[in-house]
Amino acid sequence: MTDRDEVRAQYATEGNLLTRQSVWQPAEDGRDPTEIALAVVRASAPADILEIGCGTGAFAARIAQARPGAALLATDQSPRFVELTAARGVEARVADATELPFEDDAFDLVAAMWMLYHVPDLDRTLAEVRRVLRPGGRFLAVTNGDEHVADLRREGGDGPVVTQFSSQNGEDALRRHFDVVRREDVRPRAVFPDHAAAVAYLESSREDIAWDLPAFEGPRTYLGEGTVFVAS
Ligand SMILES: C[S@@+](CC[C@H](N)C(=O)[O-])C[C@H]1O[C@@H](n2cnc3c(N)ncnc32)[C@H](O)[C@@H]1O
Repeated sequence: MTDRDEVRAQYATEGNLLTRQSVWQPAEDGRDPTEIALAVVRASAPADILEIGCGTGAFAARIAQARPGAALLATDQSPRFVELTAARGVEARVADATELPFEDDAFDLVAAMWMLYHVPDLDRTLAEVRRVLRPGGRFLAVTNGDEHVADLRREGGDGPVVTQFSSQNGEDALRRHFDVVRREDVRPRAVFPDHAAAVAYLESSREDIAWDLPAFEGPRTYLGEGTVFVAS
Protein backbone atom coordinates (compact mmCIF):
# COMPACT_ATOMS: atom_id res chain seq x y z
CA MET A 1 0.00 0.00 0.00
CA THR A 2 1.66 3.26 -1.14
CA ASP A 3 -1.31 5.46 -2.05
CA ARG A 4 -1.06 8.45 0.33
CA ASP A 5 -4.80 8.58 1.09
CA GLU A 6 -5.00 4.85 1.83
CA VAL A 7 -1.91 5.04 4.05
CA ARG A 8 -3.35 8.06 5.89
CA ALA A 9 -6.66 6.24 6.43
CA GLN A 10 -4.93 3.06 7.65
CA TYR A 11 -2.84 4.97 10.22
CA ALA A 12 -5.26 7.74 11.24
CA THR A 13 -5.82 5.76 14.44
CA GLU A 14 -3.89 3.00 16.18
CA GLY A 15 -6.42 0.14 16.32
CA ASN A 16 -5.39 -1.79 13.21
CA LEU A 17 -1.67 -1.50 13.89
CA LEU A 18 -2.06 -2.66 17.50
CA THR A 19 -4.18 -5.64 16.36
CA ARG A 20 -1.39 -6.76 14.03
CA GLN A 21 1.45 -6.11 16.45
CA SER A 22 -0.20 -8.01 19.31
CA VAL A 23 0.34 -11.45 17.77
CA TRP A 24 4.12 -11.37 17.23
CA GLN A 25 6.51 -13.62 19.10
CA PRO A 26 10.24 -14.22 18.48
CA ALA A 27 11.42 -16.85 16.00
CA GLU A 28 11.81 -20.45 17.21
CA ASP A 29 15.53 -19.77 17.80
CA GLY A 30 14.63 -16.79 20.05
CA ARG A 31 15.65 -14.05 17.61
CA ASP A 32 13.36 -11.06 17.27
CA PRO A 33 13.64 -8.28 14.63
CA THR A 34 13.03 -5.45 17.12
CA GLU A 35 15.67 -6.77 19.53
CA ILE A 36 18.16 -7.18 16.65
CA ALA A 37 17.44 -3.56 15.63
CA LEU A 38 17.96 -2.33 19.19
CA ALA A 39 21.28 -4.15 19.36
CA VAL A 40 22.34 -2.23 16.23
CA VAL A 41 21.39 1.06 17.93
CA ARG A 42 23.38 0.14 21.06
CA ALA A 43 26.42 -0.97 19.05
CA SER A 44 26.41 2.19 16.88
CA ALA A 45 26.32 4.48 19.97
CA PRO A 46 24.71 7.32 17.98
CA ALA A 47 24.43 10.84 19.43
CA ASP A 48 21.69 12.15 17.10
CA ILE A 49 18.94 9.72 16.14
CA LEU A 50 15.96 10.12 13.80
CA GLU A 51 13.13 7.63 13.45
CA ILE A 52 10.86 7.95 10.42
CA GLY A 53 7.41 6.35 10.41
CA CYS A 54 7.57 5.87 14.18
CA GLY A 55 3.98 4.62 14.59
CA THR A 56 2.86 4.65 18.22
CA GLY A 57 6.43 5.29 19.42
CA ALA A 58 7.13 1.88 20.94
CA PHE A 59 10.55 1.51 19.27
CA ALA A 60 11.48 5.16 19.93
CA ALA A 61 10.75 4.60 23.63
CA ARG A 62 13.04 1.56 23.59
CA ILE A 63 15.78 3.64 21.91
CA ALA A 64 15.37 6.33 24.57
CA GLN A 65 15.94 3.66 27.25
CA ALA A 66 18.90 2.14 25.43
CA ARG A 67 20.60 5.50 24.65
CA PRO A 68 19.49 7.92 27.40
CA GLY A 69 22.16 10.50 26.50
CA ALA A 70 21.30 10.67 22.81
CA ALA A 71 19.15 13.31 21.09
CA LEU A 72 16.18 11.40 19.66
CA LEU A 73 13.52 12.71 17.31
CA ALA A 74 10.63 10.51 16.13
CA THR A 75 8.53 11.43 13.08
CA ASP A 76 5.46 10.09 11.33
CA GLN A 77 2.97 11.33 8.75
CA SER A 78 0.10 10.56 11.17
CA PRO A 79 -0.73 13.31 13.70
CA ARG A 80 -2.34 10.73 16.00
CA PHE A 81 0.82 8.60 16.05
CA VAL A 82 2.95 11.67 16.77
CA GLU A 83 0.63 12.45 19.69
CA LEU A 84 0.96 8.88 21.04
CA THR A 85 4.75 8.96 20.66
CA ALA A 86 5.02 12.31 22.45
CA ALA A 87 2.89 10.87 25.27
CA ARG A 88 5.72 8.37 25.87
CA GLY A 89 8.05 11.30 26.58
CA VAL A 90 9.79 11.13 23.19
CA GLU A 91 10.22 14.31 21.12
CA ALA A 92 7.99 13.76 18.09
CA ARG A 93 6.74 15.69 15.10
CA VAL A 94 4.73 15.21 11.93
CA ALA A 95 6.99 14.79 8.90
CA ASP A 96 6.73 13.08 5.52
CA ALA A 97 9.64 10.72 4.95
CA THR A 98 9.81 11.68 1.26
CA GLU A 99 10.61 15.29 2.22
CA LEU A 100 12.48 15.38 5.51
CA PRO A 101 12.48 18.87 7.08
CA PHE A 102 16.08 18.56 8.32
CA GLU A 103 19.46 19.87 7.24
CA ASP A 104 22.09 17.72 5.56
CA ASP A 105 24.30 15.61 7.86
CA ALA A 106 22.02 16.13 10.88
CA PHE A 107 21.88 12.56 12.29
CA ASP A 108 24.21 9.64 12.82
CA LEU A 109 21.47 7.02 12.89
CA VAL A 110 18.13 6.93 11.07
CA ALA A 111 15.65 4.12 11.79
CA ALA A 112 12.76 3.06 9.55
CA MET A 113 10.83 0.18 11.10
CA TRP A 114 8.30 -1.52 8.80
CA MET A 115 7.49 1.65 6.91
CA LEU A 116 9.44 1.82 3.63
CA TYR A 117 6.88 -0.40 1.91
CA HIS A 118 4.36 2.46 2.33
CA VAL A 119 6.21 5.51 1.02
CA PRO A 120 4.95 6.84 -2.32
CA ASP A 121 8.49 7.32 -3.71
CA LEU A 122 11.00 4.84 -2.31
CA ASP A 123 14.14 6.20 -4.02
CA ARG A 124 13.33 9.74 -3.03
CA THR A 125 12.89 8.60 0.58
CA LEU A 126 16.20 6.71 0.57
CA ALA A 127 17.93 9.76 -0.94
CA GLU A 128 16.45 11.89 1.85
CA VAL A 129 17.73 9.47 4.49
CA ARG A 130 21.20 9.51 2.88
CA ARG A 131 21.13 13.33 2.80
CA VAL A 132 20.30 13.80 6.51
CA LEU A 133 22.80 11.11 7.62
CA ARG A 134 26.34 12.20 8.48
CA PRO A 135 29.21 10.49 6.63
CA GLY A 136 29.70 7.20 8.44
CA GLY A 137 26.14 7.30 9.79
CA ARG A 138 23.92 4.21 9.76
CA PHE A 139 20.51 3.54 8.32
CA LEU A 140 18.53 0.84 10.11
CA ALA A 141 15.62 -0.44 8.01
CA VAL A 142 13.38 -3.32 9.06
CA THR A 143 10.83 -4.87 6.76
CA ASN A 144 8.83 -7.99 5.90
CA GLY A 145 9.37 -10.55 3.17
CA ASP A 146 7.00 -11.95 0.57
CA GLU A 147 6.37 -15.03 2.76
CA HIS A 148 5.26 -12.92 5.74
CA VAL A 149 2.13 -14.70 7.09
CA ALA A 150 1.69 -15.89 3.49
CA ASP A 151 0.26 -19.27 4.59
CA LEU A 152 -2.44 -17.51 6.61
CA ARG A 153 -3.21 -15.24 3.66
CA ARG A 154 -3.39 -18.24 1.29
CA GLU A 155 -5.72 -20.13 3.63
CA GLY A 156 -7.84 -16.96 3.89
CA GLY A 157 -8.28 -16.94 0.11
CA ASP A 158 -5.61 -14.52 -1.10
CA GLY A 159 -1.86 -14.70 -1.58
CA PRO A 160 1.42 -13.19 -0.40
CA VAL A 161 1.87 -9.42 -0.27
CA VAL A 162 4.71 -8.33 -2.55
CA THR A 163 5.91 -4.81 -1.74
CA GLN A 164 8.42 -2.26 -3.04
CA PHE A 165 10.73 -2.77 -0.03
CA SER A 166 10.94 -6.36 1.19
CA SER A 167 13.42 -9.02 2.32
CA GLN A 168 13.65 -9.92 -1.37
CA ASN A 169 14.18 -6.50 -3.01
CA GLY A 170 15.21 -4.22 -0.11
CA GLU A 171 18.94 -4.90 -0.42
CA ASP A 172 19.01 -3.82 -4.09
CA ALA A 173 17.08 -0.65 -3.25
CA LEU A 174 19.51 0.23 -0.45
CA ARG A 175 22.56 -0.45 -2.65
CA ARG A 176 21.36 2.27 -5.03
CA HIS A 177 22.01 4.81 -2.22
CA PHE A 178 24.49 3.26 0.23
CA ASP A 179 27.95 1.68 -0.17
CA VAL A 180 27.61 -1.05 2.45
CA VAL A 181 24.48 -3.08 3.24
CA ARG A 182 24.31 -5.81 5.89
CA ARG A 183 21.25 -7.93 6.62
CA GLU A 184 19.87 -10.38 9.14
CA ASP A 185 16.86 -12.49 8.17
CA VAL A 186 14.39 -13.74 10.80
CA ARG A 187 11.22 -15.88 10.81
CA PRO A 188 9.17 -14.53 13.75
CA ARG A 189 5.96 -16.31 14.71
CA ALA A 190 2.42 -14.94 14.63
CA VAL A 191 0.54 -16.74 17.41
CA PHE A 192 -3.26 -16.50 17.24
CA PRO A 193 -5.24 -17.62 20.31
CA ASP A 194 -8.19 -18.58 18.10
CA HIS A 195 -9.82 -18.32 14.66
CA ALA A 196 -11.41 -14.92 15.44
CA ALA A 197 -8.01 -13.41 16.23
CA ALA A 198 -6.61 -14.67 12.92
CA VAL A 199 -9.55 -13.16 11.01
CA ALA A 200 -9.16 -9.87 12.93
CA TYR A 201 -5.49 -9.80 11.89
CA LEU A 202 -6.36 -10.29 8.21
CA GLU A 203 -9.14 -7.70 8.34
CA SER A 204 -6.93 -5.11 10.07
CA SER A 205 -5.01 -4.49 6.86
CA ARG A 206 -8.23 -3.02 5.39
CA GLU A 207 -7.40 -4.50 2.01
CA ASP A 208 -10.33 -4.87 -0.34
CA ILE A 209 -10.52 -8.64 0.22
CA ALA A 210 -13.45 -10.79 1.44
CA TRP A 211 -11.40 -13.08 3.73
CA ASP A 212 -12.73 -16.64 4.01
CA LEU A 213 -10.49 -18.39 6.53
CA PRO A 214 -11.68 -21.96 7.22
CA ALA A 215 -12.68 -22.41 10.87
CA PHE A 216 -10.16 -23.97 13.29
CA GLU A 217 -10.19 -24.80 16.99
CA GLY A 218 -7.71 -23.48 19.54
CA PRO A 219 -4.51 -21.54 18.94
CA ARG A 220 -2.56 -21.55 15.69
CA THR A 221 0.89 -20.26 14.69
CA TYR A 222 1.94 -18.89 11.29
CA LEU A 223 5.42 -17.85 10.22
CA GLY A 224 6.38 -14.28 9.45
CA GLU A 225 9.37 -13.28 7.34
CA GLY A 226 11.43 -10.25 8.26
CA THR A 227 14.80 -8.64 7.58
CA VAL A 228 16.86 -6.12 9.53
CA PHE A 229 19.02 -4.12 7.10
CA VAL A 230 21.88 -1.87 8.20
CA ALA A 231 23.18 0.45 5.49
CA SER A 232 26.02 2.95 5.58
C1 LIG B 1 3.40 -0.51 9.58
S1 LIG B 1 3.44 1.04 10.43
C2 LIG B 1 4.92 0.85 11.40
C3 LIG B 1 4.98 1.79 12.56
C4 LIG B 1 6.21 1.65 13.46
N1 LIG B 1 7.43 1.94 12.77
C5 LIG B 1 6.26 0.28 14.05
O1 LIG B 1 7.16 -0.51 13.69
O2 LIG B 1 5.39 -0.04 14.85
C6 LIG B 1 3.93 2.18 9.15
C7 LIG B 1 4.12 3.61 9.65
O3 LIG B 1 4.69 4.41 8.63
C8 LIG B 1 4.03 5.66 8.61
N2 LIG B 1 4.18 6.24 7.27
C9 LIG B 1 3.70 5.75 6.12
N3 LIG B 1 4.05 6.54 5.09
C10 LIG B 1 4.79 7.55 5.60
C11 LIG B 1 5.46 8.69 5.06
N4 LIG B 1 5.41 8.94 3.74
N5 LIG B 1 6.12 9.51 5.88
C12 LIG B 1 6.16 9.26 7.22
N6 LIG B 1 5.56 8.20 7.80
C13 LIG B 1 4.88 7.35 7.01
C14 LIG B 1 2.59 5.33 9.00
O4 LIG B 1 1.86 6.45 9.44
C15 LIG B 1 2.82 4.29 10.07
O5 LIG B 1 3.01 4.87 11.33
